[in-house]
Amino acid sequence: MYKPSLKALIVLAVCSVAGILACNNSAPSLKDDSNVIKDTSMFIPPDTNTIPHDQFGEMVRYGRELIVNTAYYIGPNGIAGKYLGNKMNCRNCHLDAGTRPFGSNFLSTHGRYPQYRGRENRVLNLGERINNCVERPHNGKPLPLDSKEINAMECYMRWLSANVPVGQHINGDEYIEIEYPDRAADIQKGAVIYAAECAVCHGKDGEGKWTPDSATYTFPPLWGPKSYQNGSSPSRVVKLARFIKANMPDKKATWRKPYLTDEQSIDVAAFINDGRIHPRPQKKDKTIPDYPDIKMKAIDYESGPYIDTFSEMQHKFGPYKPIIDYRKAHNLPVIF
Ligand code: HEC
Ligand code: HEC
Repeated sequence: MYKPSLKALIVLAVCSVAGILACNNSAPSLKDDSNVIKDTSMFIPPDTNTIPHDQFGEMVRYGRELIVNTAYYIGPNGIAGKYLGNKMNCRNCHLDAGTRPFGSNFLSTHGRYPQYRGRENRVLNLGERINNCVERPHNGKPLPLDSKEINAMECYMRWLSANVPVGQHINGDEYIEIEYPDRAADIQKGAVIYAAECAVCHGKDGEGKWTPDSATYTFPPLWGPKSYQNGSSPSRVVKLARFIKANMPDKKATWRKPYLTDEQSIDVAAFINDGRIHPRPQKKDKTIPDYPDIKMKAIDYESGPYIDTFSEMQHKFGPYKPIIDYRKAHNLPVIF
């Protein structure tokens, strides 16, 4: 059985006394800089040294391996089965093996499934949610829900959230907040930012950079046939902009000190996700539409019909505020 460390127990006790769900026992005081988010209440992920040495622990280790070296195991030439349609790894988006604050982490994920999902308009369990990413960002086919691989990834996520209250969110488990500009995203400005700050790693044509054996990527692709699908979460401009703001350019940006402004993050995300200049793989099974209940459709989802009167272009590239205001005025859900 996994035993939480004494430190983790103390942190947990202090946190519950304070009524805070996630907290850091050694909050460093940062310089007064309006661009810096105060680091006061981040959940500390468990140390991999504490993964137990039993059958559960073996599955946790394998699950972590799958998140980090996904293509090797379940990629187009995977040794455990050929499921992914590209050679990206989960960790390319779920940073630090799914443990980084504001980096699409899995810290609170396990306890929040099964969960209603608007895109399918039904309740999905965690294995089905994992398969969503296998099918859409990885452009692949779903793993059997009773496979060792799904089980292992679920074990890893379960282990990660051992100290997270079931069903709760913790600080940093969503993307960083962003202010929506009053204008539409500017693709030209995005192109300039891309050339100056991103192309050095992700390539002039967004193709990424292979490892020497071409088995996977040193720098993953951002568009083209080997990237994520249209309609996947990262293909939405706001979602991608929020990821970029806290994490890219790699090594320069952190959630504590983002590198791009909100407008720049939106402009560069719009440039990357503009299907008129940057095609990407399309959803395979078109018989089931995304968001069968259109009022649950994410605002930045690129194809209609919508429950409001705004165009596909405005939904994709903004300005988003008029759409938000319209939905609020008509008592409709505002979902991103
Ligand atoms: C190209 C980027 C990308 C890749 C690669 C990717 N994902 Fe995701 N994943 C996302 C985004 C974006 C979200 C939505 C996050 C949000 O809305 O906060 C997401 C969400 C998830 C969630 C739901 C998390 C939660 O707390 O609700 C799970 C589980 C997940 N991904 C698993 C995986 C697994 C496993 C892999 C590898 C097989 C993978 N993802 C690969 C981008 C990606
Ligand atoms: C120094 C190299 C470097 C620079 C510069 C850089 N990135 Fe990245 N980027 C990475 C790496 C490495 C990853 C994968 C992270 C991992 O696997 O841990 C990544 C992942 C991503 C991802 C998610 C994975 C995918 O391929 O869809 C996006 C989106 C992204 N970067 C966008 C950008 C944008 C936009 C910029 C410029 C503002 C940028 N990056 C600049 C290295 C870089």
